[in-house]
Amino acid sequence: MRCIGVLTSGGDNPGLNACIRSVVRMGLGMGLEVMGIRRGYAGLIDGEIDEMDSRSVSGIIGRGGTMLGTARCPEFHEERGRKQALRSLNRFGIDGLVVIGGNGSLTGALELGRLGFPVIGVPSTIDNDVNGTDIALGVDTALNTIVDAIDKIKDTASSHNRAFLIEVMGRNSGYLALASGLAGGAELVLCPEFETPLETIAQTIEDDYVRGKSHAIIIVAEGWKPGTLKLAQQLNEHPDSVGFSVRVTQLGHVQRGGSASAFDRILATRLGASAVRELVAGNGGHMVGWVRSEATLTPLEEAVAFTKTLDPRLVKLNQIMAQ
Ligand code: F6P
Repeated sequence: MRCIGVLTSGGDNPGLNACIRSVVRMGLGMGLEVMGIRRGYAGLIDGEIDEMDSRSVSGIIGRGGTMLGTARCPEFHEERGRKQALRSLNRFGIDGLVVIGGNGSLTGALELGRLGFPVIGVPSTIDNDVNGTDIALGVDTALNTIVDAIDKIKDTASSHNRAFLIEVMGRNSGYLALASGLAGGAELVLCPEFETPLETIAQTIEDDYVRGKSHAIIIVAEGWKPGTLKLAQQLNEHPDSVGFSVRVTQLGHVQRGGSASAFDRILATRLGASAVRELVAGNGGHMVGWVRSEATLTPLEEAVAFTKTLDPRLVKLNQIMAQ
């Protein structure tokens, strides 16, 4: 292998730049040429590709976002788009590719691999739902951002004796809600993976009020149905039945930005470096994940076969801690 490419795809997060830096510097250290592909698969199809050197990744280890840009690319789901991508790879002399992204992006990597091109995936999504890794890039930083917000909201919630619905990201995954609920000492966590009836929610908040708690913090995942705003409306329609008055904070994309945590920087550096080593060793078609504190290979097919489910022990633990 003489020349490798690297791209970031799907939702951004603060671990991406550290991983790009690691791929570039490990690649150069192994005597390879390294090409940066802009805007994920969209830039690969359009040939937006530049040679990288050590200086082009200076000063980015902690910076949020992705210096290469990212995109969600519907054309790549079509065979025509993937063949166009292959042509770009050939045109720029790239003979191995590192794809940094979540489930959709890794499925794209698998499809490209099926056309015979060596690709290694690195899991990166704040949803932490990629199979074959204990943790994906960006999760730790996003969690720290959420917990910081919960702590701040608790200050005002306690002063006014209010219940707060704090909405966190996760269209299909309740991981961030569950983990931030545990770390932030939430009274209740609502995830898309399980139904929680309105009566149970109202009863929990009322019980907290009756037991003399100064506030109630309810973490709601973005994908929970019928949704945070609807829930707030329903609870506020019956203020006497819940005790606290209810306020809402939707954290939104603030969770995806900011300076990367030390953990994310180290994880990204280690997974990026492993990705390059594995590509050169001929292990294309795999994802490099983080399992029991080691970089571990999982076939891309397995990595994208299903999304990880929530650990029921954590759900139970959250309920016990919320008493
Ligand atoms: O997949 C990561 C994620 O942040 C989800 O938690 C969220 O639902 C989604 O991306 C938001 O995507 P977008 O930024 O494209 O609106």
